[in-house]
Amino acid sequence: MSETNGTSSPNVAAGPVGTAAPGGPVLEVRGLEAGYGPISVLRPMDLSVEAGTVLGVLGPNGSGKTTLMLTLAGLLSRLGGDVRVNGTTLPSGRAAVANRSGLVLVPDDRALFTALDVRENLAVARRAGGPTDDEIVDLFPPLAPRLRVTAGELSGGEQQMLAVARALVQRPRVLLIDEMSMGLAPVVVEGLLPVVRRIADETGAVVLLVEQHVQLALDVADRAVVLVHGELVRDEAAADLAADPAGLEAAYLGATTLS
Ligand SMILES: Nc1ncnc2c1ncn2[C@@H]1O[C@H](COP(=O)(O)OP(=O)(O)O)[C@@H](O)[C@H]1O
Ligand SMILES: [Mg+2]
Repeated sequence: MSETNGTSSPNVAAGPVGTAAPGGPVLEVRGLEAGYGPISVLRPMDLSVEAGTVLGVLGPNGSGKTTLMLTLAGLLSRLGGDVRVNGTTLPSGRAAVANRSGLVLVPDDRALFTALDVRENLAVARRAGGPTDDEIVDLFPPLAPRLRVTAGELSGGEQQMLAVARALVQRPRVLLIDEMSMGLAPVVVEGLLPVVRRIADETGAVVLLVEQHVQLALDVADRAVVLVHGELVRDEAAADLAADPAGLEAAYLGATTLS
């Protein structure tokens, strides 16, 4: 972290921070309901997230975390409610519009172009003003010697770095990361999470982080929500949730923890 050489220091701060509505929430969700066709999965939920916040999205399998991410990304139509990014209401189920508005999803299957190399995967996704390859490598040093290797030949950890990097070159205002840890050793996830923190700090992006390693997620998050059976049962400072393992465990077992 050096600020010594002024404007040329490689970082990701060339991101969208300047376009954020000053003071207001970057992501605002009101009465959001979601599901598949007529099947409702998410009960109406409200969420308001300020710039630079890492929000952990926790909850047991099948609780609706992926459904929330897909719906925010416009890949699923909403069954009700509003989603706003920097004060602009997004149409339901319009992934391209959501993406242009700054919602960028890192899906749980990574969805890389396996036959393209790392630079090509970044180049096809990059928006004007998005971080350069040098800036990406500064964030993810293990990718430096791998730029000309096809995504299919990367290790799982390298693929996940590339998946996050590919989201980053789109200059996200709201970065949606679904299960970064899928198929990765906890030690690899532990190495990636500080980068997520840095992205939020340096670009002012909101990060929604779905993560099965609850403690690791709470270490890096500012705040976290817990979904149980599609219902948002907790929404608190990450430190408060981390200090209440019994309450968290009860939530994961499906108990009602709201007082
Ligand atoms: N394509 C689908 N069609 C119908 N129901 C689905 C579909 N995908 C997921 N579901 C259901 O939605 C609920 C939430 O799933 P999901 O959002 O994937 O949970 P999580 O990501 O928290 O594990 C589950 O009950 C699951 O069975
Ligand atoms: Mg999921």
